[in-house]
Amino acid sequence: MNFRLAVIPGDGIGPEVVNQALKVLDRVASVYGHTFEKVNLLAGGCAIDETGEPLPKVTVEECLKSDAVLLGAVGGSKWDNLPGNKRPEQALLGLRGQLKLYANLRPAVVYEQLKDACLLKAGNTSDIDIMVVRELTGGIYFGERGRRDSEMGQQAFDTEVYSTYEIERIARIAFDIARKRKSRVTSVDKANILESSRLWREVVTQISKDYPDVELNHLYVDNASMQLIKDPSQFDVILTTNMFGDILSDEASMITGSIGMLPSASLGDGNFGLYEPVHGSAPDIAGQDKANPLATILSAAMMLRYTLNLKKEADAVEKAVNRVLEEGYRTGDIMSPGKTLVGTQKMGDMVAGFIE
Ligand code: IPM
Ligand code: MG
Repeated sequence: MNFRLAVIPGDGIGPEVVNQALKVLDRVASVYGHTFEKVNLLAGGCAIDETGEPLPKVTVEECLKSDAVLLGAVGGSKWDNLPGNKRPEQALLGLRGQLKLYANLRPAVVYEQLKDACLLKAGNTSDIDIMVVRELTGGIYFGERGRRDSEMGQQAFDTEVYSTYEIERIARIAFDIARKRKSRVTSVDKANILESSRLWREVVTQISKDYPDVELNHLYVDNASMQLIKDPSQFDVILTTNMFGDILSDEASMITGSIGMLPSASLGDGNFGLYEPVHGSAPDIAGQDKANPLATILSAAMMLRYTLNLKKEADAVEKAVNRVLEEGYRTGDIMSPGKTLVGTQKMGDMVAGFIE
């Protein structure tokens, strides 16, 4: 089949890791007889340098004309002093908002071959298999913000706002996913303080009635962040707001010790989606052939599975990644004694070579 992919390499290690994912996709295309037509687009710091804007209009237009978007990473200290609405991160918020990608799926799993990298010593760490379902186009990220004068000097404010409709649609996604996993949803909020969280809890509880086979519990976010460290294996699906999901997904990914391995998907209604690694642009190692491309390669696998409906092909990519790990190849971030250290490109070559 023929697919059109919008490719946004971005900044820092973004271009390097995206190139490896494209290499793997090219191999998939030739083995399985597909064509991936790729459109290279600017977003983030590189877009600011070339066009003055973090998210040029044409980037959004081309994404909308494509079947899926593959993104590397954006940002870097070079652009840190720009005003808030001109920073590279605005590109991500703009893409999420304009492409209506309200559901962010961030799996946090411990790879059997990388068990030693898991930061937690206690408990059965190989049981860690969490899916964070983060609401992505609402809440404090998109609420009204600004500055105003007050008796106490200048004030700044950001508003957390959620509507029933927004909570319902993300809750349904979480319950649907839980059904395909261990049928447990933990909804995380701050309902002891925030009115928006009280509505969140009411609506999630209401929606859960349509899913009697899925077990629902609620946690306050402070407790959830503690429980994640104490016993991460208690979690299956974590359903939460934009802001809490930002924080908890970083925490969940780090305890696995495999942050360089974790993919993510951002979805809306329909099949369209944006796929990117969970990690950032890591400017400190950019251009040195040191970055781990596996998170981006696995993001491409998620794209094959969720958007393009190519299940066999997605399985083949995931199998190839497992095979590379089994044979002992490691980038620096996941290196351990007795294994073979490889660079970004070699890692991409190895995965591509194992696609069958
Ligand atoms: C993420 C990032 C972004 C976010 C930033 C870069 C805007 O931290 O994708 O988690 O806060 O959502
Ligand atoms: Mg984040």
